[in-house]
Amino acid sequence: MCKIILNKFPKKDRSCLIPILQDIQTEYGYLSQDVLSDVSEYVGMPFASVYGVATFYNQFRLSPLGKYVIRVCRGTACHVKNSANILIALEAELGISAGCTTRDKVFTLETVACIGACSIAPVININEEYFGRLTVNEIPKIIKKYKNMAKKEEDNKTVSVV
Ligand code: FES
Repeated sequence: MCKIILNKFPKKDRSCLIPILQDIQTEYGYLSQDVLSDVSEYVGMPFASVYGVATFYNQFRLSPLGKYVIRVCRGTACHVKNSANILIALEAELGISAGCTTRDKVFTLETVACIGACSIAPVININEEYFGRLTVNEIPKIIKKYKNMAKKEEDNKTVSVV
C-alpha cells in the first residue's frame, strides 16, 4: 500500500519511523493498522512500538477524517470569547466529542490552538470556510448546511450510478 513512500527511506531503521508515518499520513490522511504493520516490518520494530509512537503523538491519526473537518479554535483570544461553549454546542449538535468522527463519516471535530484569525474570535473553520464572531445559536444552521451538502453529494452519486 505505501511501498512508494517506504522506498523513499532506504535506511530502513527506527530513525526513519516518524518521517515515514508523517509521509504516509499526508498521503492517506490516517494510519491504518495494516500500514502500521507494514511500517513495523520495514523499520524492524515490533508492531506495539510503532503503534505506541503513532498513538503518543497528537499529529498522528489512526482513523480516517470525516468529509468535513470542523476545527474549533481554543486559543486565548477565542477562549476569552467563549469558545468552550462553541465546542460544547458542536459536540451536542454532532453527538461526538472533540477528536472524533461521526459514524456516517461526514464530520470530524477537532480543537486547535490558534487558527490565525484572532480578530474574529471566537472562530471555527470547516475545511476551507471560516466562521468568525460565532455564537452558539448559529451552530445548528451551520451544521445543517453541511449535512445538506453531504446529502446532495450522496444523492448525485446515486443518480450517476443508476
Ligand atoms: S486564538 Fe482563535 S484564532 Fe487565534
